[in-house]
Amino acid sequence: MSHVLAAVAWPYANGPRHIGHVSGFGVPSDVFSRYMRMAGHDVLMVSGTDEHGTPIQVQADREGLKPRELADRYNRVIVEDLHGLGLSYDLFTRTTTGNHYQVVQELFEALHRNGYIVAKTTLGAISPSTGRTLPDRYIEGTCPICGYDAARGDQCDNCGNQLDPIQLINPRSKINGETPNFVETEHFFLDLPAFAEALGQWLDSRDGWRPNVLRFSRNLLDDLQPRAITRDLEWGVPIPLEGWRERGDKRIYVWFDAVIGYLSASIEWARRSGDPDAWRRWWSTDDEGKDARAYYFMGKDNIVFHSVIWPSLLLGYSGEGDRGGEPGGLGRLNLPTEVVSSEFLTMEGRKFSSSRQVVIYVRDFLARYDADALRYFIAVAGPESQDTDFTWAEFRRRNNDELVAGWGNLVNRSISMAAKNFGAIPPIDPAGLTEADEALLATGRAGFATVGALIERHRQKQAIGEAMRVVAEANRYLSEQAPWKLKAEADKPRMGTILHVALQVVADANTLLTPFLPHSAQQIHELLGGTGVHAPMPRIVEVDDLDGGPAYPILTGDYQVGARWESAPIEAGRPLAAPKPVFRKLDESIVDEELSRLDP
Ligand code: MF3
Ligand code: ZN
Repeated sequence: MSHVLAAVAWPYANGPRHIGHVSGFGVPSDVFSRYMRMAGHDVLMVSGTDEHGTPIQVQADREGLKPRELADRYNRVIVEDLHGLGLSYDLFTRTTTGNHYQVVQELFEALHRNGYIVAKTTLGAISPSTGRTLPDRYIEGTCPICGYDAARGDQCDNCGNQLDPIQLINPRSKINGETPNFVETEHFFLDLPAFAEALGQWLDSRDGWRPNVLRFSRNLLDDLQPRAITRDLEWGVPIPLEGWRERGDKRIYVWFDAVIGYLSASIEWARRSGDPDAWRRWWSTDDEGKDARAYYFMGKDNIVFHSVIWPSLLLGYSGEGDRGGEPGGLGRLNLPTEVVSSEFLTMEGRKFSSSRQVVIYVRDFLARYDADALRYFIAVAGPESQDTDFTWAEFRRRNNDELVAGWGNLVNRSISMAAKNFGAIPPIDPAGLTEADEALLATGRAGFATVGALIERHRQKQAIGEAMRVVAEANRYLSEQAPWKLKAEADKPRMGTILHVALQVVADANTLLTPFLPHSAQQIHELLGGTGVHAPMPRIVEVDDLDGGPAYPILTGDYQVGARWESAPIEAGRPLAAPKPVFRKLDESIVDEELSRLDP
């Protein structure tokens, strides 16, 4: 048993999220958290919407809204989407809360006090025609790293690297195309080289990471430069220093504030739980947190922020970089145990693109298909360790051939046969079990160790493959034993035994599949005559900001209840009714229908 932090990447609140977003980190982090809870760990799963910075400001400008108004709108949409997918956040919050501002400023101040944040004069862009500062988002140019010709002043969307406007080749104003003048202005920089050694030691002591993620992270250490962590922007967390706090034109860089969200959300969760110090059990390097582990889930374009920037902030706050220092008021804080990064999902062979209509939003998906159908696809065919493609034909095929014809069919035929012939879970015949019965039961029981270990090591594809192998074995067993041929009165006890064995393995497979398919797992639990919560679900709650700001919706839940990660013996005699089908077969026509919604 240990305290497990599941820290899930914060989606930008600049639009609805598409299935590419949720396949990389959303569903995998939920599968992991659900499993870890079932296995008895104390899980804290946190995230929220990422609402500051250029992406939000750009979209708000485009829609003629204030950034906060845009963020309010999409925060709500995203909360609803994640709720629809059944993602079991202990807290899904946002970065515009009073609590988040306080925690971000606390880290900034402590890092500054310890000497890891230094002011530097740099070159800022000025529009020659107006003489005013040209905000980073309005500068475009060629990326110095990958050569992409429409990189933004803060980030290249092609290679994902963060940039400073001054690094762009052929910089130009997005407003009128003119070349900006660069004049001296002050910004704060994070002294990343001061963490190189500590980061290296930390990375050297990691094991179990996906090899490409570890290699990529290690390589980043070869060329650490001080990095600007304030921006010419009006939207964001104010800089908490004398003479800067009141300035309207400089803000903390969005990535600096967003990664701190993992900590601020944990603190918010604790404050809401009535035990404001409870977060320490997942974060403190002291006794309280000594068994804590922290797993961070994200897409590969976010690796640098989680394996370099965030650990550096934690080290600097704890006083553990080259410049030493004292830990801030929150105490020394734990570094990530593992950075679990996924690859990218493409859509029908193309990059997702909202502007080009190569997209399916979560909301639209859930309006037409079941959450578990998507969760199944992501688990078996998602971008776990290589880029993968979503196609409607493949979605339909896996849904129909595997989920419906494999798992759904097993559930359906075993329960309906038992209901029809016994009206209840039949008992095992005193004559006992055959070798085939024992073998199948053993397969079901053995699944817990195998599937559990794979999920714990973030091999979810293999894990669900093993769970589906149990399903396949049970289907084969039913075909071989052919209980439908044992209708004669003298054969009925044997028929009952076969169905009992099959139903036990259905119950076991259902538990093995619960982290992946929680909605259907609950239904199947009930079809087997079970009562109460089998797979707990998140709920949306409107809450007041803890520090006087406007109210907002959060996702939270009570996840202490539900199935344990073990084989639970089914009870003979429990009444069974004829089952309703749990999974829906998809007609061939959906493929063309969906393809026609995409831009040609
Ligand atoms: N908003 C970022 C994105 O969508 C992810 C932020 S993750 C966090 O790429 F670390 F900042 F929280
Ligand atoms: Zn680039």
